[in-house]
Amino acid sequence: MKEFILPQLGQRLWKKYGLRANPFDTAPLSLTSETSLPIADAIVGRGFETYESRSLCNVLCNPGGARIIIEGQVGVGKTTFVNYHRYIWENHSQDRLFTPQEEIAVTEHWQLSHFLINILSALISKLILLIGEKEVSKVPVFQEVLALSRVFFQTNLSIEGSFMGFGGGFSRSHNINVPSLPEIQLMRYFREMVRQIKQMNYAGVFLHIDNLEILRREDTHSIRAFLEIIRDCLQTPDVYFVFVSNQGFFRDIISSLPRVRSIFFGKPVAIAPLTKIQVIEAIHKRYHILAMDKQKFINPVEDSFIGYLYDLYKGNMRYIMDALNMAVPDLLNQSEYTISTEKAQICLDHLVKEQILALLTPLEWEMLCFCKAKEKFTNKMISDQFHIPSSNVARSMEHLRDLNLIYLDHKEGKKIYYCITEYAKIATPVSYQKAIEPTPFSPIEKRTFEILSFLQKNQKIRHQEYAQLVKVSPATATRDLNQLVKTGKLCRIGQGKKSYYELKEG
Ligand SMILES: Nc1ncnc2c1ncn2[C@@H]1O[C@H](COP(=O)(O)OP(=O)(O)O)[C@@H](O)[C@H]1O
Ligand SMILES: [Mg+2]
Repeated sequence: MKEFILPQLGQRLWKKYGLRANPFDTAPLSLTSETSLPIADAIVGRGFETYESRSLCNVLCNPGGARIIIEGQVGVGKTTFVNYHRYIWENHSQDRLFTPQEEIAVTEHWQLSHFLINILSALISKLILLIGEKEVSKVPVFQEVLALSRVFFQTNLSIEGSFMGFGGGFSRSHNINVPSLPEIQLMRYFREMVRQIKQMNYAGVFLHIDNLEILRREDTHSIRAFLEIIRDCLQTPDVYFVFVSNQGFFRDIISSLPRVRSIFFGKPVAIAPLTKIQVIEAIHKRYHILAMDKQKFINPVEDSFIGYLYDLYKGNMRYIMDALNMAVPDLLNQSEYTISTEKAQICLDHLVKEQILALLTPLEWEMLCFCKAKEKFTNKMISDQFHIPSSNVARSMEHLRDLNLIYLDHKEGKKIYYCITEYAKIATPVSYQKAIEPTPFSPIEKRTFEILSFLQKNQKIRHQEYAQLVKVSPATATRDLNQLVKTGKLCRIGQGKKSYYELKEG
């Protein structure tokens, strides 16, 4: 019941601002058609001029299949990055690659058969979506896999919705009970499916395996074993396996497995956070996409608040949006205007502190504040600081971990190092808060926001209009506009006096 009421309530709140839905939705941009934020319109950065995109493309250009690791912090935009490339390779490439609707999410203790079944199901779901069940059934291997998927589906009712919706097969976080079917048979199905898909005018299949990062921290042994057992499957011809993981995965896991390493592209592709301007641009794009009337919507927050969150979370887009999600609905009840940055900061700080304090003992709160001051910490450091036995510290740390306030970062021999989570960072003592005062926007950054906002409401702008809008000399206007064209934000239409500028598509 709760789930049903909440979105409606949310929508009413956003309507005040002239928006159809929540602009701060934290889901990765995806290929599914139900989303209100289509990836092609909502994506920012990650274009072909970037190092990460070029590296991935070089691998995908290899005929015959490949394997690559994408690394980066949780929440920087890895899933979105890979989804964007899947979209491009499926829709805008000469050598098109077939790809399932959703990413395939590995869960713990998978065997080769789980891996294969999830792939087969994801492929068959996409085929049904694309050409319909009738056409699918005409190809013997598709028909067999479809029938098989139905058997699996009956063995586990919880996946019914997902499968029948053909949204993404069994891919997302479902753990399917696999009947005892020989792995060799599943491998045969996989190969044959890929072969048939190629006959539909595709150069290959692009598989996005998404959440190795979740497996890694706790259990490096099973992830190693898993990679070893899927190694042969990863060499299926014409399949491009793109694995998403956290930083250091290649170095710590892949490199220690020579047989596995030999089949992977030599180094991982690292995904860095978007720049501050890009994050603000991404949020502006969302307002624009969700606006009921493109001329009339109101920005819920000032850009300087997004800038503040950017500095606080070192550019991590998921955390930025989480914080916006927390603070904004609380304040929306009170105003229909853009919420001031000061008000939003106070509200956020207050909300987080209130939430955290309600769950912790006074000592645990003190410990958390101490941990905040350290980059990384161990049980012993806390025990020394508070003069309490390490067994008591261990209990408190367990509690802090359960509440997602700290996490295990790494082990060095017997020492276990923890870090504080980004969520816990918001509720910070004043001294810490001071240290991350937002860096003010430079004049050129401010002017960039102004013109981008202007162009989201108006189609085009002329040189002179721009100079008036941002109150600069014609020479500065020329410099700014040239720079914006060079960095791919604007395009110039026409020549001489009649020329004007538009937002660059995509
Ligand atoms: N390039 C981008 N352009 C616009 N929004 C993005 C971009 N990258 C990430 N996001 C948004 O940031 C949030 C986190 O992205 P996600 O891909 O889920 O990160 P990760 O997979 O690294 O945890 C999501 O809400 C997503 O929509
Ligand atoms: Mg992700």
